[in-house]
Amino acid sequence: MRKNLLHIWHKELSYEIREIVEVANKIESNWVEIFWENIWDPVIKWEKIPSWMKNIVRDATEKDVVYWYCPTRWLDSVREYIASKNPKITKDNILFFNGLWDAINKIYKSLAFDSRVIWPNPAYSTHSSAEAAHAWSSHITYSLNPHNNWNPDLDELENKVKYNPNIVWILVVNPDNPTWAVFSKEVLESIVAIAKKYDMFLIFDEIYEKLTYDIADKVLLSDIIWDVPGISMKWISKDLPWPGSRCWWIEVYNEDKDENFKKYVSSILASKLLEVCSTTLPQYVLPEIYENKNYEISLKERIIKYKSRAELADKYLWDLDEITLIKPRWAFYLSIAFNMDKINNWFIPNIENRNILDIVNNSILGSKRFDKKFCYYLLWKTWICSVPLSGFNSSYEWFRITLLEEDKNKFEFILTTIRNFILEFKK
Ligand SMILES: Cc1ncc(COP(=O)(O)O)c(C=O)c1O
Repeated sequence: MRKNLLHIWHKELSYEIREIVEVANKIESNWVEIFWENIWDPVIKWEKIPSWMKNIVRDATEKDVVYWYCPTRWLDSVREYIASKNPKITKDNILFFNGLWDAINKIYKSLAFDSRVIWPNPAYSTHSSAEAAHAWSSHITYSLNPHNNWNPDLDELENKVKYNPNIVWILVVNPDNPTWAVFSKEVLESIVAIAKKYDMFLIFDEIYEKLTYDIADKVLLSDIIWDVPGISMKWISKDLPWPGSRCWWIEVYNEDKDENFKKYVSSILASKLLEVCSTTLPQYVLPEIYENKNYEISLKERIIKYKSRAELADKYLWDLDEITLIKPRWAFYLSIAFNMDKINNWFIPNIENRNILDIVNNSILGSKRFDKKFCYYLLWKTWICSVPLSGFNSSYEWFRITLLEEDKNKFEFILTTIRNFILEFKK
């Protein structure tokens, strides 16, 4: 008899942000146009890519160097440029990847089988799925507390690392997705202190660091890491409107402070060597884009724009008892949490189009989660494609939309529609 083809880890792989898109695509190709509110892609929302940025990319395409295999770690000049911004590192502490999946696959797969990472709950699912899959086990998490500005429960974190010797890494996403929190220096220093006390490593996803509404909020791992070994993840696709660049890099801190950590970092490089290198063009243009005088200006303009949309959403939705708006402290998303004690008698809206209802029902079959049902019915009734945050390993019932809609009338229409849907749903 032939053996089973399926790896045990397939059960750990899920990405709700895209899964709902499969359903929305079926609906769109047959019946209507969808309002895409599920993912951060400004290009889909018609954000104009600045012409100064396009010019830099266009000029680079004339150079033969962008068509080559680049060195595995990446071009010395670019790594030197990045290192020049941070006294904590040299160019040898930088390694480039093709997007998050490439980075975390190499980072988590290089870990010993039984060495675990502890995650925030809620957690950004690509990270947590990959690590859980690596360990053939479920996630280990510490809670972010919605009643305390989403700050981590530090006692819970300390207790878990103290009593579970398998946990060797603490992961922090700062600024965080999907709580839109930005953690204070005190909170981050406490996490570093826990890592130091229990001889652990730190991994920070800092891809949104340039996008806080208040610049004073920004505290980087490299500012506070002290002598604890750690890794920060960086990425150009968020502070530039260029998600398709798939241009990630990691910065490694205090590599020389721990022999085991040093060997681990070399093993990440060894697995990158097998792949040869990351995509050349986006990395090649990175210093020129960051040094362009228009970069800071356009970043500021974009942040102001997103912030004003968050305020607009608040105006439309703040007074509904059934929900609580999770107000962002950085860029381009907004979450809406259900006050479950207020929504006992909600019902499924009227069936108008049997075909669509079948598609939607098949997708939520077996799900006990209210937020998932809500989002799929919202999609079915209103064509708004949002993300149920149950997909973020979260025990709360809530969902997420973006703040990307460039057309103010359309954004107001989306907010009004969500408002009316909630009112209709609860009748
Ligand atoms: C915290 C966090 N890390 C990583 C990523 C991954 O970015 P990408 O899928 O563009 O590689 C995202 C995407 O939204 C994110 O929110």
